[in-house]
Amino acid sequence: TILPIIMAGGTGSRLWPLSRQLNPKQFLTLGDTQLSMLQATIQRLQGLDIAPPRLICNEEHRFLAAEQLRQLGMDQANILLEPVGRNTAPAVALAALQAIAEDGDAVLLVLAADHLIQDVSGFHSNIRTALSLANDSKLVTFGVVPSYPETGYGYIERGAAIDSGGFTVARFVEKPCLATAEGYVTSGRFFWNSGMFMFRASRYLEELERFRPDILTACRTALAGSTQDLHFTRIDAAAFAACPEDSIDYAVMEKTTEAVMVPLDSGWSDVGSWSALWRVSTKDAEGNVFRGNVLGYATRNTYVHADSSMVATVGIEDLVIVETQDAVLVAHQDKVQDVKKIVDRLKSDR
Ligand code: GDD
Ligand code: MG
Repeated sequence: TILPIIMAGGTGSRLWPLSRQLNPKQFLTLGDTQLSMLQATIQRLQGLDIAPPRLICNEEHRFLAAEQLRQLGMDQANILLEPVGRNTAPAVALAALQAIAEDGDAVLLVLAADHLIQDVSGFHSNIRTALSLANDSKLVTFGVVPSYPETGYGYIERGAAIDSGGFTVARFVEKPCLATAEGYVTSGRFFWNSGMFMFRASRYLEELERFRPDILTACRTALAGSTQDLHFTRIDAAAFAACPEDSIDYAVMEKTTEAVMVPLDSGWSDVGSWSALWRVSTKDAEGNVFRGNVLGYATRNTYVHADSSMVATVGIEDLVIVETQDAVLVAHQDKVQDVKKIVDRLKSDR
């Protein structure tokens, strides 16, 4: 069976000021439903023949995570707690090592906790295609047809078609520069990496050992020193602090020759920015998305989120306005990637 591993330890800084260190993106309710991004990720798996999902996140968010799982009736779910963030290559290594110790060599479905997927049944059929490839010792990526040259994504160049579905991977390039990304998008041969993966636990660890043995060794030591606290598995802090930081994309996916790609055609969005969220939300006739107590007049193509006060807009277009109790963001739709710069500045001022 498939063991879903949900990575929920990121910071989501481009969705500031709603996404904060103490309440990052994956725990927020951003879509058209009442569920948080994390809860929607779990809910989306319903109907697949899979084991209960495992969560791996930062220790700081343990109560938030446990409470959101409880709301879904998953009181018993195991949660792996990282004392510090070391990015996704170590996170997946910890989950893979734990899976091998406890469940034998399961096929892992590695999921980000902060994506929206519109067509769930299409997603399920993509997962079934991926399962046969993962059973065949492949490292499966899920590719999305790119619609613009996003530089915050990984790109997968498709190779030959595989009989059981999907393609071999000719190349995997994580976060290319704009000129390169533009070339990829016009070529028609490149897909975005959706950031979800499927492989046998042992297969990932073999590849990690080949390319980043230092990460694997550090994760082995850190997991061996972990302690069990109710259903939390607490990773050894000193050992994990010594683990190098890297993403699964740079550490393994760019380097392996065993990757394959299953095209994902199910309305995927990683909602990486306010404008991405605006793009996938249901809009009014003027192209606006208003959340909370918002009054708009002569306003077009604008996203407004009002948390604690009423927000009124007059005669504006193409903006993002996010009001919270202690911070307000006003940004142009075309510049929302730079919200990250504000967050960096706030961090360095502290
Ligand atoms: N447990 C844990 N620990 N989870 C983490 C950590 C960590 O240290 N860092 C990030 N995550 C989680 C995030 O919460 C998110 O769910 C997922 O892992 C991906 O991390 P991001 O930081 O959002 O990655 P990215 O957006 O820069 O890039 C990845 O996703 C893109 C698509 O959204 C890459 O896989 C790209 O290639 C891909 O295109
Ligand atoms: Mg992301």
